[in-house]
Amino acid sequence: MGNERLIIFDTTLRDGEQSPGAAMTKEEKLRIARSLEKLGVDVIEAGFAISSEGDFAAVKSIADTIKDSSVCSLARTTHADIERAAEALKNAVAPRIHTFIATSPIHMEFKLQMNPEEVLEQAIGAVKIARNFVDDVEFSLEDGSRTEFDYMCRIVESVIDAGARTINIPDTVGYGSPDEYGEMIGRVINNVPNADKAIFSVHCHNDLGLAVANSLSAVLHGARQVECTINGLGERAGNASLEEIVMALRTRKDIYKLDTRINTEQIVPVSRLVSTITGFPVQPNKAVVGANAFAHESGIHQDGVLKFRETYEIMKAEDVGWNTNRLVLGKLSGRAAFSARMEELGITFDNKAEMNTAFLRFKDLADIKREIYDEDLQALVSDVQMGEAEESYQLVSMDVATKTGRHPQAELVLRTQGQEYTVESDGSGPVDAVFKAIEKLIHSGTELKLYSVNAITDGTDSQGEVTVRLVKEGRIVNGQGADTDILVASAKAYLNAVNIMGDPGRVHPQLDGV
Ligand code: KIV
Ligand code: ZN
Repeated sequence: MGNERLIIFDTTLRDGEQSPGAAMTKEEKLRIARSLEKLGVDVIEAGFAISSEGDFAAVKSIADTIKDSSVCSLARTTHADIERAAEALKNAVAPRIHTFIATSPIHMEFKLQMNPEEVLEQAIGAVKIARNFVDDVEFSLEDGSRTEFDYMCRIVESVIDAGARTINIPDTVGYGSPDEYGEMIGRVINNVPNADKAIFSVHCHNDLGLAVANSLSAVLHGARQVECTINGLGERAGNASLEEIVMALRTRKDIYKLDTRINTEQIVPVSRLVSTITGFPVQPNKAVVGANAFAHESGIHQDGVLKFRETYEIMKAEDVGWNTNRLVLGKLSGRAAFSARMEELGITFDNKAEMNTAFLRFKDLADIKREIYDEDLQALVSDVQMGEAEESYQLVSMDVATKTGRHPQAELVLRTQGQEYTVESDGSGPVDAVFKAIEKLIHSGTELKLYSVNAITDGTDSQGEVTVRLVKEGRIVNGQGADTDILVASAKAYLNAVNIMGDPGRVHPQLDGV
């Protein structure tokens, strides 16, 4: 007989998107949702439907498309929130409404300004409303780890009676410690008389670097759903990372005795996709998905691994998708091979024209770069979809001159609303000159907070992927650009960030009370 199963609830598209600067477009969210489905996550939290028109559309398109995972929308406890979530989810094969309210003394008193009885009543009401729309209702006690124990048990019992099937007890502020948090989850399960009628879930933030440890401790005490994100993305220091949870369960089956539905070979490809789309690079020493996670530097380690892999490796790189899905396309690959690979990567185009543009860009790239990898294709699609965005600034051409001992000079032709403009500037370096030239036309009023460049693939002919982070009036956005010429990639990334800043559909989907 197999082990019991742990439900993997991925919230990259909701809590992950709450990382400052990680706002995604509908198309980007849909691409990630497709790869999460392929990864085998049980529940995809697609967004927070009421937070913006853009997020509603994203949740809806994911709900309309995804068949093999449940699709979930977050909702506060108000009728309007729940109705909006239900509307977005109406075509989902397996819809879930996730409603929540804060239950800790500090949140109830200072944030909600409600007393515990009012919060209890609101929680019960919300679950009942949600059950009128869907069978699968999750209820979260926000700031659960700082909630008074007896009160927590009362709420949990009442919302289960009202019809909640999943009870989530988050460590919202990342305050929990593994033993204490795990024991608390176990005590709730043992104390609540109708606990057997619901699945208990955990959702841990990483403020003290304990999100994964806290989640796993809770699993040992009876939690059967873990909420997590790819690359540990999420509000502030992030959430528990999916790849670490899944691989810990798989590698230490002797301890956890639980299975998941995750197809682990998809972990690295999804991690890369999320990193490319959000512009949050993965640190090289990150467990499982970092570039160094399976690289051995010291001679003693290399010697040991060559003699017997298990001397220093507890997982196989191939099992988490390193070196898989890297089928190469090249100059001679035709439209059929290109579109087949796109389909396998879960990439679809809105229309034929978009597909044609992507194919032509692929051909241009293949002229410069001998081997085209999946990462190149992902970057190329992001570029095409950005280029399609209405009213955006686009790069037409650029000319940058650098010479030792002289200030670099940049001349760019930019297009906006059908008109082309030539702008030029010098700068302390070529990137500075490019950004200053762009600003001569745009006057964005933004401040540059981060500039980073990464090689997408190996080799000197790799495309450079540039991330630019801009801030304006407290709003943070990340822009990306990819090209074999990193100055072109830099210009594209800067324009992308400016375009996002000016797009109301990409406002950070955060509302009061979250
Ligand atoms: O961290 C948290 O408490 C949340 C809830 C909305 C589940 O994200
Ligand atoms: Zn959270």
